[in-house]
Amino acid sequence: MPSVYIKTYGCQMNERDSEAVAAQLLARGYVLAKSEQTADVILLNTCSVRDFAEQKAIGKMTNLAVETRRHRPHVVLGFMGCMAQSRGQGLIDQLPDVDLVLGTQKFHRTAEHLDDLLAGRKDKVVDVAEEAGSQGAIREHLLAGSGRKSVSAFVSIMQGCNQHCTFCIVPFTRGEERSRTIPDIVTECRELVAQGVREITLLGQIVTSFGKRDLPTVEGRSPFVQLLDAVHEIEGLQRLRFTSPHPKGYGDDLVEAYARLPKLVESAHIPVQSGSDRILKLMHRGYTRERFLEIIGKLRQVQPGMGLCTDIIVGFPGETEADFEETLSLVRAARFDQAYIFKYSPRKDTPAADLPDQVPQAVKEERNQRLLELINQMAAEQFGACVGQVEEILVEGPSKKNPVRLTGRTRSNKIVVFEGSDRHLGQVIKLRIVRAGSFTLYGDPAIINLD
Ligand code: SAH
Ligand code: F3S
Repeated sequence: MPSVYIKTYGCQMNERDSEAVAAQLLARGYVLAKSEQTADVILLNTCSVRDFAEQKAIGKMTNLAVETRRHRPHVVLGFMGCMAQSRGQGLIDQLPDVDLVLGTQKFHRTAEHLDDLLAGRKDKVVDVAEEAGSQGAIREHLLAGSGRKSVSAFVSIMQGCNQHCTFCIVPFTRGEERSRTIPDIVTECRELVAQGVREITLLGQIVTSFGKRDLPTVEGRSPFVQLLDAVHEIEGLQRLRFTSPHPKGYGDDLVEAYARLPKLVESAHIPVQSGSDRILKLMHRGYTRERFLEIIGKLRQVQPGMGLCTDIIVGFPGETEADFEETLSLVRAARFDQAYIFKYSPRKDTPAADLPDQVPQAVKEERNQRLLELINQMAAEQFGACVGQVEEILVEGPSKKNPVRLTGRTRSNKIVVFEGSDRHLGQVIKLRIVRAGSFTLYGDPAIINLD
């Protein structure tokens, strides 16, 4: 039975795609290899968001090709995902040892292509075409059958993005927005809950645009809020999250959903990208700094404990020191719990790559450092404020750093480490927070109650 090793780069969407591919291959009689050294098939699921991510995957494949071709020439090597989509045949031209290049709308054909390659029916496969209906194909999960008890699961609700932010390659690698149907998504969520999942995170590149083309607004509720309502009804589900939204999707219907739906936890990852209106406009983001701050103000009004996370780009073309200071001041005003900082990286075919006044690397580095310091300081304040409080935690499993302890998350998505036992797995418990570390909270071993 051929064994497969999948290495994933990039975002949660990629993690989810890899999981679905692994589940599909298991169902077709493949086994999952523990490491790349023993695998008959090695697949790299790639990210294109920044050049750095692409170079990492290319470097990895170059090394794999040297190693496997010397000692294990039968091994099938493949690229899949975003870089496979944007570069296609070019990847085989550059690295002739690569056997398979599989685009973002073709994950569900992985087994079929691997069967052909392993049986020698085909020598190389490049499959990066668009495929109608592929948004409904990411649905298999690796749960109980794989020996892993999952408390939390990701469910892909749509593919693609039409926003075309001027820096972003995603609309090219993931295609046009295509949404699954609400009944289809609810069925998948229901099955997961029946298997013991307690928390579901709905996934997409721009989830707030879910169903826009296919479904009407009903009683002031957008299709995305209608989906939240429908998933919320599933009995046994304890927590509902989603990522990534777009600020323009935070109408009053979504803000109000946080007040109305108790399972919709008070946590949001809302990418802001910049605090300067001039830069936001050049980025084609479709909101102003003031509007962004208004949204998070409204969210905190309905849920004062709202945990907020964001993405910020430093060194976008034309970003001046004054623009960057606007970003710093927005971060201070917003009091984020956490922020992911990205140094601007010019991407193929995106309008920003051709803008004048590209920012020198040294300036990007320096802004990155200053922003990081501020974010760390803000996070320390936000995490520190939890000390002494009682928090509701969904217990996920053993802590990675110290497996005798357990780990879970607060409703506001902060990681908590504490002493407990296996019987707490998958439970929602209440703990008093005794200490805050860097992006981690520590709980008192005395559990206050079990739900
Ligand atoms: N909506 C998507 C965004 C994908 S890209 C999501 O769900 O995650 C993730 C983040 O990468 C963006 O929010 C942005 O901050 C960053 N990013 C995208 N393109 C970039 C580029 N060209 N250079 C640097 N950072 C970029
Ligand atoms: Fe990219 Fe903007 Fe869409 S960041 S994924 S084009 S919302």
